[in-house]
Order: sequence, then structure tokens, then C-alpha cells
Amino acid sequence: MKVSVVGTGYVGLTTGASLAYLGHQVTCIDLDPKKIEMLRAGRSPIFEPFLEDLLAAASANLTFTTEYADGVPNADVVFVAVQTPSLPDGNPDLRFLRSAAESVGQHVAGDYTVVVNKSTVPIGSGNWVDAILRDAYEERHGASADGRLGVASNPEFLREGSAIGDTLYPDRIVIGSDDDRSLEVLTRLYRTVLDQSFTAPAFLPRPDDLGAVPLVSTDLASAELIKYAANAFLALKISYINEIGYLAGKVGADITKVARGTGLDSRIGSRFLQPGVGWGGSCFGKDTAALISTAAEYNYDMPIVRAAREVNERQRGAVVDRLLDELRIIKGRRIGVLGLAFKPNTDDLRDAPAIDIARTLVARGARPKLHDPVAAERFRREQPDLAEYLCDSAEDVFDGVDAIILVTEWSHYLELDWAKLMGMMRTPIVLDGRYALDRARLEKSGYRYLSMTN
Ligand code: UGA
Repeated sequence: MKVSVVGTGYVGLTTGASLAYLGHQVTCIDLDPKKIEMLRAGRSPIFEPFLEDLLAAASANLTFTTEYADGVPNADVVFVAVQTPSLPDGNPDLRFLRSAAESVGQHVAGDYTVVVNKSTVPIGSGNWVDAILRDAYEERHGASADGRLGVASNPEFLREGSAIGDTLYPDRIVIGSDDDRSLEVLTRLYRTVLDQSFTAPAFLPRPDDLGAVPLVSTDLASAELIKYAANAFLALKISYINEIGYLAGKVGADITKVARGTGLDSRIGSRFLQPGVGWGGSCFGKDTAALISTAAEYNYDMPIVRAAREVNERQRGAVVDRLLDELRIIKGRRIGVLGLAFKPNTDDLRDAPAIDIARTLVARGARPKLHDPVAAERFRREQPDLAEYLCDSAEDVFDGVDAIILVTEWSHYLELDWAKLMGMMRTPIVLDGRYALDRARLEKSGYRYLSMTN
């Protein structure tokens, strides 16, 4: 099938490259000529494991362009995957989506095109996009768009850092439309993912236990709500275990064991019960805020979702408080921070806990030493006022510090020679913000090991 993808961020690029790998003819459109130039040269503008391998494997079916006219006119399916950043009131900013929908509406010219929203948009946006598309189509073509256009929602569940695996081997595919023909086209588009009949790439083999992938085919509003309900639930699962974690610290329980013992109940599930400094990234914060704000339009309060956000915010402050308890005085201290990206295997710094932690340290008169194996350059550009605290290597961070905080559990940090590096520290205190280090081994080497709770 002919597919066009508007926007080459994490979602757009992964979707485009995966569909091309599966054999569809894909055109990726982005208005940024620098990104398109990089992609034409086979390089990815974002850091995502296996993305460049996938781009190379799919290159025969992939075209990159800055022009809607190159990809949209004959497409069977157009994915819109543009950014929808948060506005100050919690609602997403839909300007990019509006202008993409207008351009798509002007350029579609095939017999029947399904326009799919991949961006996470407030519930009801499908109808809004439908109206924009139709107006743009009718203005350009001087004819009704009836029977020519369908609008669908196909929420994305990929995680940064494991985007390709999540796309080729998903837990489920959700498609929503009020138009049966659109649902039929999308079912055809995903056929080989649904029955897992494609040849798995050598660099990312199919998981052994994966069978057929379930399809949830529904109306527009339900598909849109599924995305929010899933993200808010994951966010609250993490906040829940962090809330229990605080109590675990007080009563002398081990939260990692509590999480394991709780999560092994198959009704609960052990994933997303990893305690620590809490969630960051571009999705959980934005989507929980949007959910609350949509509900408010219906005069409805969502106390559970609000609480998940409050607990998450509290976790970031708790990191510095935990150090304060130990060091007594934080002013004038040098504190190493390992990890800046909001999680390992990505260079994404959006809503990263490390940024708040570094700012709190500076505000309290400490001098942080910051490091990330991949996101440091991006950090320098995006947080220029904190750039002076960056170190060139993880080893540099240990030099002369009063304590180290592990904020992002990159494997690079877990594999350091901690015993050797201890000699460079002023005091060998480590605060493991992710319960990722080997406590017994560190204590044996002479470290004073602190977790978020005990
Ligand atoms: C999240 C969802 O997991 C995806 O399903 C969804 O498609 C995506 O948002 C989106 O809406 O686009 P992502 O934000 O990329 O994906 O990353 P996650 O792996 O979900 O991690 C989010 C944050 O939670 C990270 O800061 C991570 O460190 C933290 N986390 C995760 C925990 O603190 N504990 C856990 O047990 C798991």
C-alpha cells in the first residue's frame, strides 16, 4: 500500500520505517530540510536503538521529502504524527496538527485516503481534524470530500528506547474510526503485524512467546480515550509503588521486594512497578494533564490521576531531601548526577527528573557535576544555564564529590568500576535513585548506599 507519514519525530519515523520494512511504499514528510537531508543520507535525527538499521533495511521502500505534494496525492493512508506540546493550562497545543491537516486536505487526490492521527490528541480531535480536512479538500478541489476521505485514530504505544520492538511486536493494535472502510484499510495495512507473518529483522528477532497480535477495532472517541487511559494507568502504577515505597522506608521494608511480591500477582503485573525518582518524558506528564483538563470541560474531577501527578512531583524533591538527611548540610557540597535523559537508551530530556534535581541542588547552594553518555550535547543546547556543570566522562563526576546520585540507570553506569572510582570521591555516598545498583557489592566496597527509601 502507499503510505505517507507527516512528521519525523520518534513516532512518525518509527512508524514510517517499520511500515516500509513490512513492504509498504512510504513517503516521510517533514518541513525541516535539515532532518530530511540527514534521513536521505541514512542517518537518524534522533537517538533510538535499531532505527538506523531499520532505515537501512527498508531503504528501497522509503522516500523523504519536505513537500506534501510528493507523498500525499496518491497515498492510501496518511499518518499525521506531528508534535502536540502542552500549553500552560495543560491542554495540548494543536497548531501543528491543524496546519498538517490543512495541507493534507489540500493535497489528497486518490480514490479514497484514510487520514490517521498518530499524535496523542484530546478526545474529540478526530472529528475536528475531519472538519479541517474536508474544508481544505473542498476548497482545493471544488468538490465534496464525501467518499474520498476517512479519518481514523491509531494510538501509538511505543516507548522511546524500545520503539522499533514495540512497533513490530506490539501487545495490541488499536484502530478507531466512525467509517468502516477506514477500519478495513488499516486492518489490511497491519495484516502482517497482526499475524506476525513478516520476516523478523536479524538485528531484532521476534520474541519467542509472541503469537498473533490482538486488534481492537472501535469508534474514534474510544480509540482516543484508550491512549490516555493506558498512559495514565502506567503513570499511576509507578506513582503508586513510589507512594508505597515511602511507607516501606518508614516501616523498614524493602520496596524492591514489595514491588516484586506485589507484581507477581498476574492481576497486577510486574511491569511499571519499578520504584525510584519517578516518571518523566514527553508523554505521562502531558497526557495526565490533558486528561484532567478534558474532564474539567465536563465539570468532572479526576482525583486518582491528579494524585499520580502529585506523588511524581514529590519524588523529585525527595531525592535532594534524602541527601540532606545524610549530609546535613547541602550548601557548598559537590554532588555528582549520573544520567540526564528521562530514561536509558534515549537522548530525550523532556520533563527529565535530572533537570529538576540539578536545579534544586543549585538553588540550595550545592554544585552539581552532571553527566549523560548520550544526552549531554542536547542538554548543553536545551539547558544552557546548567551547561557549566557538565562533565566529559562518568569518571570525572566522581572526582572530589560528596555524593553521587544515580538518576538514569544507563548500563554504562551499572558497569563502571565503582570500587576503583570510590577513591576519587570526598565521601563515598551513593544515592541510587533507580534501585538499579548492586547494594551488597557497593557496601562491601565501602560505599554508604542510600536508596530513595532506606
Ligand atoms: C510511554 C508509554 O510507556 C508508551 O506506551 C507510550 O506510547 C508513550 O509513553 C507515548 O505516549 O508516546 P515513554 O514515555 O517513551 O513511553 O517511556 P516509558 O518507558 O513509559 O517511561 C516513562 C518514564 O517512567 C521514564 O522516566 C521511566 O524511567 C519511568 N518508569 C518506568 C519508572 O519510573 N518506573 C517503571 O517501572 C517504569
